[in-house]
Amino acid sequence: HIDHGKTTLTDRFLEIAGLLSGEHPEQFLDSMELERERGITIKAKVVSFEYKGYLFNLVDTPGHVDFSYEVSRVLTSCEGSILLVDATQGVEAQTVANCELAMKEDLEIIPVINKIDLPNAQIEKTKNEIMEILPVNEDEIYLVSAKTGYGVRELLDDLIEKIPPPSGEKDLPLRALIFDSVYDSYKGAIVYIKVFEGEIKRGMKIKFYSSGDVYEVNECGVQRIQMIKTDELVAGEIGYVVAGIKDISDVKIGDTIVEANDVESKPLPGFKEVKPFVFSSFFPVEETTIENLKNAIEKLHLNDASFEARPINSPTLGFGYRCGFLGTLHMEIIRERLEREFSLKIITTSPNVVYKVKLRNGDTISVDNPSNFPDPAKIEEIYEPITKITVVSPVEYISGIMELLKEKRGKFLKMHYINPTRVIIEFMLPLSEMIQGLYSQIKAISKGFASFDYEHAGYEKAELVKLDILINGKEVEGLSIIVPKEKAYRKGRELVERLSKIIPRQLFEVAIQAAIGKRVIARATVKALRKDVLAKCYGGDVTRKRKLLEKQKEGKKRMKRIGKVDVPQEAFWEVWK
Ligand code: GTP
Repeated sequence: HIDHGKTTLTDRFLEIAGLLSGEHPEQFLDSMELERERGITIKAKVVSFEYKGYLFNLVDTPGHVDFSYEVSRVLTSCEGSILLVDATQGVEAQTVANCELAMKEDLEIIPVINKIDLPNAQIEKTKNEIMEILPVNEDEIYLVSAKTGYGVRELLDDLIEKIPPPSGEKDLPLRALIFDSVYDSYKGAIVYIKVFEGEIKRGMKIKFYSSGDVYEVNECGVQRIQMIKTDELVAGEIGYVVAGIKDISDVKIGDTIVEANDVESKPLPGFKEVKPFVFSSFFPVEETTIENLKNAIEKLHLNDASFEARPINSPTLGFGYRCGFLGTLHMEIIRERLEREFSLKIITTSPNVVYKVKLRNGDTISVDNPSNFPDPAKIEEIYEPITKITVVSPVEYISGIMELLKEKRGKFLKMHYINPTRVIIEFMLPLSEMIQGLYSQIKAISKGFASFDYEHAGYEKAELVKLDILINGKEVEGLSIIVPKEKAYRKGRELVERLSKIIPRQLFEVAIQAAIGKRVIARATVKALRKDVLAKCYGGDVTRKRKLLEKQKEGKKRMKRIGKVDVPQEAFWEVWK
């Protein structure tokens, strides 16, 4: 689970192995600037080190749910895993979910309780919770402080005994699994692999199983603190390969690498390709920056193939990009990186999920943008994505959480006590309801004590309609949403009310309407400004006048002009809330 100390523990291991010293920053594995600043791991990272004559390949995994696909793909290339639990927090939703993933892979799981140096550490309680989710005895659970280093060396020593060595044969034909890739402007794609069988060498011709594309290995090696070139990687090793691959999209995570002329080897059991689940549109605040946005998106895509983008031209918001993400945190991170690393100012529309719509003519289409939703007269059935939600919560907040999940169209599955005061609740919930603030709502109800995790669970039929928002008669892309039929009127009324408080008063009256098809179902008005505010600045008070103008300009920074009306970024977020 997020923040339980995985990256800190990894740092301690590296220190013991003599790889990390004063010159290297703490949390070296969280190398992305944003990762360090937010203190969260976004991408899984691999590092190899030697200790007591053994080679360890260790992968630090992200804790946030949006990136749990990283964890699942990493687990397929491991022999064992450390289940790290914060002694002050106990077992949380992602502890449960990731533990289940590791058990499915049949991995050796080593339970470790961290942060025992803290005065509020609840060691006994945490031990009992771990024993509820994992069949282990109390004396098999390690107690460490990744911060002070207490217990870390003993843990590392025991890993040698407890984690089995990899089993692959060096003399068989090459089969290596791709589990990650990053882009380097000099080397092209750097592909991270686990060699299951055979060996891979510099100069060798290799083939990607899924595409049949052939490349020559220019370089291979292992990842220490830096990349260290080696002549070969043999069965059991984890390392990287550079093979002049210019487009990172050509590297499919989960694909198998074989020798170029090998037509007999079967692929390793890979994993499903990840597809974006959440879509939103990015528009530059000033249209002149569309070229810059295009370049920035292309650059980011090189390093993150799970983020998709295609150019769009909206009648109201102009040129922009429709982008696909793994979840809403992923969306926020990409937006933040675009603004920070490329100095762009962007308007983001509210996130949407991908609907499958069966039409009366027999076709089924995928719709990732409400603006493209077909005319209701043409629709036979609508299907929406569903998730399985796991919530871990103190008992006293269960009824509040249950009520919230019911309001959000959740279907209760089961409940399980991990100790007399905490429960695991499982629910099915539409993804669209989940991305509309479920995380903060659950945190608010439980005063921060409950956690949740989700996994995608296919599609289900639903009664939905498209709700449009019109500003002075103009339908605005990005303000349209897909809502449950029975909630459409209420949503429409609430939304126009809230928008009327966000859209600033202009020199004329602004009508905000909610409509289903051609039928207007709610309306609110933003009254016109009575007088020019500057008129209040009497006579020659130039500085005051200038200050006021500047304040107005400041306020306009993140606005989009729709017709004659300036619509601020907040309006687009309001739809989502
Ligand atoms: P994500 O990458 O976001 O999933 O988090 P993580 O599990 O890698 O946690 P990280 O190592 O970033 O640690 C989270 C916070 O806990 C940091 O502020 C650490 O300094 C702190 N921390 C980690 N281990 C210990 C420990 O043993 N004791 C104390 N007191 N603090 C710790």
